Amino acid sequence: MAGRIPQHFIDELMQRADIVEIIGSRIQLKKAGRDYKACCPFHGEKTPSFTVSPAKGFYHCFGCGAHGTALGFLMEYDRLEFVPAVEELAARLGLEVPREDSAQQPAPLAPLYAVLDRSADYYEQALRAHPAAVEYLRGRGLDGETAKTFRIGYAPPGWDGLLAQFDRGEETRQHLLAAGLIVPREGASGHYDRFRDRIMFPIRDSRGRVVGFGGRVLGSGEPKYLNSPETAVFHKGQELYGLYEARQAERRLSRLLVVEGYMDAVSLARHGIRDVVATLGTATTGEHLRRLFRVVPEVVFCFDGDRAGRAAAWRALQATLPELREGRQVRFLFLPEGEDPDSLVGREGPAAFGARLGQATPLSDYLLQELRQQAGSDSLDSRARLAELARPLVGLLPAGVYRELLTDRLAQEVGLQPQRLTAALGGMPAPEPPAPPARRAAHRPPGGRASVVGQAIALVLSYPQVAATIVPPPGLASARLKGAGLLAELLQLTRAHPDLNPGALLERFRDRSEGPHLSALLAAPTQVGESGARAELADSLQRILALEREERLASLASKAAAGGLTAEEKEEFRQLQRGQAGSAR
Ligand code: UTP
Ligand code: MN
Repeated sequence: MAGRIPQHFIDELMQRADIVEIIGSRIQLKKAGRDYKACCPFHGEKTPSFTVSPAKGFYHCFGCGAHGTALGFLMEYDRLEFVPAVEELAARLGLEVPREDSAQQPAPLAPLYAVLDRSADYYEQALRAHPAAVEYLRGRGLDGETAKTFRIGYAPPGWDGLLAQFDRGEETRQHLLAAGLIVPREGASGHYDRFRDRIMFPIRDSRGRVVGFGGRVLGSGEPKYLNSPETAVFHKGQELYGLYEARQAERRLSRLLVVEGYMDAVSLARHGIRDVVATLGTATTGEHLRRLFRVVPEVVFCFDGDRAGRAAAWRALQATLPELREGRQVRFLFLPEGEDPDSLVGREGPAAFGARLGQATPLSDYLLQELRQQAGSDSLDSRARLAELARPLVGLLPAGVYRELLTDRLAQEVGLQPQRLTAALGGMPAPEPPAPPARRAAHRPPGGRASVVGQAIALVLSYPQVAATIVPPPGLASARLKGAGLLAELLQLTRAHPDLNPGALLERFRDRSEGPHLSALLAAPTQVGESGARAELADSLQRILALEREERLASLASKAAAGGLTAEEKEEFRQLQRGQAGSAR
């Protein structure tokens, strides 16, 4: 594993990145005052509500609520994950991405990608030279274009067809070995090709780089598929075969179908159903789902109708629950016994397959169906059993609207009030209201009080260089008002790093639960200009401290009325009353 990217580098990147240039090189921007406008690339619209603010280093769509930094834009628009997005941004600025703990520098990966890519080329060429392999693919309904799209190839028989493509130097051998393409001879020196006499499916990562292969025997034989071993660049449990190709085929995917086999993905694509990925014969993992949901809001799992398929679907459901949020949809498509997507689309054609897709079962229906079946059907007992069976599953859901909806449905099913069911399920009320998802429209603070803190935070985020000149008042960090601690932290941060711009500040919270909340605050239009920001912020801080005093006084007063103040609290009470009298003058 490469070391972490140091924070100071992200800061620097955010300060140097020109968000207008980065977004402008991908979509047409038009200057409007100090900002730039465009039709939003993340939802369909005719009048532009997508705004890029060079001052904030931030973009925001007033239509769909999409927003973020230059880095966030690359992740969303280019569908990159964090590290590749950082690399892309750095490359534009001609910067090398530094890594922490350079002591254990891992071997560089570039040579692995290089030999994998060259191998894919070789297999593609070899396919053209072997009519039997081409015939096999034709027989399975594939055409040349699909083969080209997926870079499908053929590893000829023989022990060193691939090896012969490379120089015999030790370094190259090590790279081929590390990429899983060759195998050391047992009890002798030298190596031989791992893949022989197989149809080759290159597995590509989200940037299109070949990271491994799956190789199928031409007829029958064992194993049917031989896969690359785990390597520094290939992790079977994380990759999704066909994801890169699906995104290439359609820039704005809205849904992805998840199938089990290479041939299923390729064959559906051949029939024009391009939004398909395959897990590599492994169970669906949370990592798979996180990757899918980074790309689309809807996932449809496709499983065989047999027992094994049902078991796999149930496991997929369990892996899915922790990843569910409002706005994310998951459905299940069960195929007739004995069919897989490849055979079915071949027999019925894409229209009929599409119709089946349209009728896939929503996750909550499938969950209830399955629970009903597991719980049995005899009246009272079975309801209690159902609630019992549901408990660990509901517990997997993150707190939020989705969990509430599902609990409501379960309550209906077992004939209990939702609150009673929640209690019966072992008291799982939401521990904390979740931060609003990043894609929601601008945050609206819940009440007058929270909004003072919210406004102050918005000011710090919008004008960090102004905030850097303010000393956080003592007592702010420990204040009980919601968000006060976060505000204190932000003020400290801007003082320690007075050069941070809003985007850089925001990026520091990317992995924190407060991140989405902060970007929503920055997305909301600022009422106060830079010149008025300092006075406004100072004023907000005074109001926050006053509110905090009031609240604390009220709580101590009611405790005093109940006769229960400790000596310490009595002293605090007196101090607060004195302060109150002072500020009232
Ligand atoms: P399937 O046996 O359903 O394969 O395995 P398939 O894709 O339908 O293949 P065809 O139609 O017979 O050619 C599903 C997936 O499980 C993995 C592969 O990723 C395969 O696509 N698998 C299967 C293996 O890794 N090794 C095997 O021996 C079999
Ligand atoms: Mn098959």
